[in-house]
Amino acid sequence: MSGIQVADGFRLITTEVASEQAAFARDVKAGLTAFPKYLSCRYFYDAKGSALFEAICELPEYYLTRSERAILERYAREMVAEMPEESALVEFGSGSAVKTRLLIEALLKQQGSLLFVPVDISKPALEDSSRGLLADYQDLEVLGVWAEYQEGLERVREIVSGPKLILWLGSSVGNFDREEAAQFLKQVREGMDGEDRFLMGVDLRKDRGVLEAAYDDAQGVTAEFNLNLLDRINRELGGWFELERFKHRAVYDEVEGRMEMYLVSTSDQTVRIDGLDLDVPFDTGEAIFTEPSYKYSVEEIETLVHRAGFEQVRQWLDEDRRFSLNLLKVL
Ligand code: TRP
Repeated sequence: MSGIQVADGFRLITTEVASEQAAFARDVKAGLTAFPKYLSCRYFYDAKGSALFEAICELPEYYLTRSERAILERYAREMVAEMPEESALVEFGSGSAVKTRLLIEALLKQQGSLLFVPVDISKPALEDSSRGLLADYQDLEVLGVWAEYQEGLERVREIVSGPKLILWLGSSVGNFDREEAAQFLKQVREGMDGEDRFLMGVDLRKDRGVLEAAYDDAQGVTAEFNLNLLDRINRELGGWFELERFKHRAVYDEVEGRMEMYLVSTSDQTVRIDGLDLDVPFDTGEAIFTEPSYKYSVEEIETLVHRAGFEQVRQWLDEDRRFSLNLLKVL
């Protein structure tokens, strides 16, 4: 059921999509009976997965978060400078919203008060981040939207009538293939007016060694994050995956410019999933594809942005030129 809950001073809009267990069952069945096998990356972010992703963001190898934070620390004020008074701040995939604080503070300084609309697929992440923000900023109003991207876009259109800055940080755009990314950006653009701005994080193409380490860290947190997908199937769909019989693999395809994440079976085995009434056979070395993470050159960002009907207002890079933040407006 959709609805609004009021808790601890923030409002939370819940939608049907994010809570639908049937979709998880259907997608897992489709992916594990396909050849080659795949699982959709949207299911990484249950409570445990969201917490593991936060741990990934702290890893020394995962430069993305640090680079993006460095850019925000330096330029947040410039990023919001052109926004009209009483702008709202919207964020897709807000997670812990730690980096967002830099923009919230810049906007509060500029206009005194602010409506923040975080959209996320994880309800615990939304609740925790909203509580924390409200405790720290008196002139902030928070209206959380528990939804996936599509549904979230529609809700934002209903909720926010004035000017808005929309954030899409952390290079989540890389988890779409290049064509899908352009399509999604078009949908974002359709919900935007002339004064609205879209700030998008995009990870840049770089050395294979740096990339592969970022997605396969020494402590094994990323491996745990990827394997949590199988654990989630065990917990929610009555699966019998033995996690120690699968391993995490991350490889960079330089031509495509994308990291590819897999879960690889280390033996011949058949895995039962009671809730789906399904037996899934695996050969030794057989892989389940779990997520792509596309990397862009500066030219590729320009192409993407134009295809989607945006104009680039400005672009900021970190000192090592690893990561970019892109401020866009409707063409
Ligand atoms: N959006 C993140 C990224 O592409 C997601 C991510 C980080 C991820 N590490 C991962 C997904 C490892 C799967 C496996 O950087």
